[in-house]
Amino acid sequence: MAKERTLGIIKPDSVEQNHVGDILGMVERSGLELQAVRMTRLSRPQAEGFYAVHSERPFFGELVDFMTRGPVVVFVAEGEGAVAAYRKLMGATNPAEADEGTIRKAFGGSIGENAVHGSDSVENAVKEVAYFFPGFELGGTAS
Ligand code: CMP
Repeated sequence: MAKERTLGIIKPDSVEQNHVGDILGMVERSGLELQAVRMTRLSRPQAEGFYAVHSERPFFGELVDFMTRGPVVVFVAEGEGAVAAYRKLMGATNPAEADEGTIRKAFGGSIGENAVHGSDSVENAVKEVAYFFPGFELGGTAS
């Protein structure tokens, strides 16, 4: 399997509940290596741009309201098959369906407020990393 990078977001619900350290710890203990971590507050245009693929969905407004209501932590994790590995660690989008031991099982409240985001494909991971870390040197190597 190839070494990959994936983009993760610790969403406002998790930051509000002081779960940042717990979640980053779960990522590290899973064997993925953190390459960059940054706390930020998304503007509406930033959140709308990031989730543009969902703009026609009925929950889009709710999603943007939620993602902009407080700070988030964006991070890049690297490892063999990192995209799938981190998606497995996150668990199902709906925390009610997430497996034991996953981040969303532990910290997700609902399908809308589900603790974390992760890139869904290698192709999207490249775009999402560039969206939040443009030209950033990740883990000491140029992106
Ligand atoms: P995320 O992985 O960040 O990508 C899109 C987000 O849309 C998803 O997590 C959920 O938080 C949100 N989402 C998906 N389905 C619904 C839904 N039915 N109602 C509200 N939010 C949703």
